[in-house]
Amino acid sequence: MIKPTCEDTFLLKHRDLKNGYHSLTFQSYSRVKQCRPGQFVHVQLPGCDIFFRRAFSVAAVDLEKRQIEIILKVFGRGSKALSALHREDRVNMLGPLGVPFRMPRKKEKTVIVAGGVGFPPLMFLATSMVARGYDPKNIEFFYGGRTAADIIERSRIKKLGVNFHPVTEDGSLGVKGLVTEPVEEFIVDRKRSEVKLYGCGPEGMLKATNDLGVRLGVGGQISLEAPMPCGVGICLGCVVPLTAGGHARVCCDGPVFEIGEVAL
Ligand SMILES: Cc1cc2nc3c(=O)[nH]c(=O)nc-3n(C[C@H](O)[C@H](O)[C@H](O)COP(=O)(O)OP(=O)(O)OC[C@H]3O[C@@H](n4cnc5c(N)ncnc54)[C@H](O)[C@@H]3O)c2cc1C
Ligand code: FES
Repeated sequence: MIKPTCEDTFLLKHRDLKNGYHSLTFQSYSRVKQCRPGQFVHVQLPGCDIFFRRAFSVAAVDLEKRQIEIILKVFGRGSKALSALHREDRVNMLGPLGVPFRMPRKKEKTVIVAGGVGFPPLMFLATSMVARGYDPKNIEFFYGGRTAADIIERSRIKKLGVNFHPVTEDGSLGVKGLVTEPVEEFIVDRKRSEVKLYGCGPEGMLKATNDLGVRLGVGGQISLEAPMPCGVGICLGCVVPLTAGGHARVCCDGPVFEIGEVAL
């Protein structure tokens, strides 16, 4: 197992993605090579009164330049403070943490279901797959939001060459409706054993994706969010119930779990 580090990194680039979303790229991160899609970093702002670290999925890494990118949506105090950072500001990163996604077999049809702040780890998954020689046309990237403004970084996803399916509740971009509806339509016509489902997003979407996988008998993984005071398995602040009984810690037994494994 790769040991996480706790180290200072410096903001190199801050992009305002609108609608409360921000992309932050930090430099001089020693663990870029160890970061896997689905893993997260636990971020602390030095010199401010916010005690607990905040968890953010790794959205991208640049191995040559030792850069790591996170994409956040302003939610409360911590994410707001991060969204106000400037170039060369310092944060402390504990990571990479958590269990990553398991890559599908090359021939499997990969169906990605993303929504909200579940988008960054799935973008990292799709980018890593393409970089490893997976056929981008074998990757279906479903991305749901309330309106078009919730579907960020579209050009980046399209550039990967994957099949991109935006879905909005108000119909302002792509198919109108909930993202799991076209996902189900896509899967029902296919041989279940040849499809792998990957989901990350808001609670309702995640539950619908998990239920869909269970109902249709499609394997895959989902990534969960939970309050994470310590991030390393000590405080039990992040436990979730398992369908087989017992509990798991999202920070270190997850955040990635098998479809059907967690009682959502
Ligand atoms: C694995 C994982 C990956 C994530 N990836 C992303 C991502 O890529 N992008 C994104 O935008 N968001 C992501 N999130 C969600 C993100 O962590 C939250 O939006 C963020 O923590 C909100 O912090 P805040 O200070 O803005 O909100 P607040 O509501 O102020 O704080 C929320 C968190 O702070 C901690 N906290 C605050 N007060 C207390 C307290 N009194 N006791 C204990 N804990 C406290 C808790 O961990 C709580 O969950 C992820 C979450 C997880 C678990
Ligand atoms: S956050 Fe402390 S055990 Fe998971």
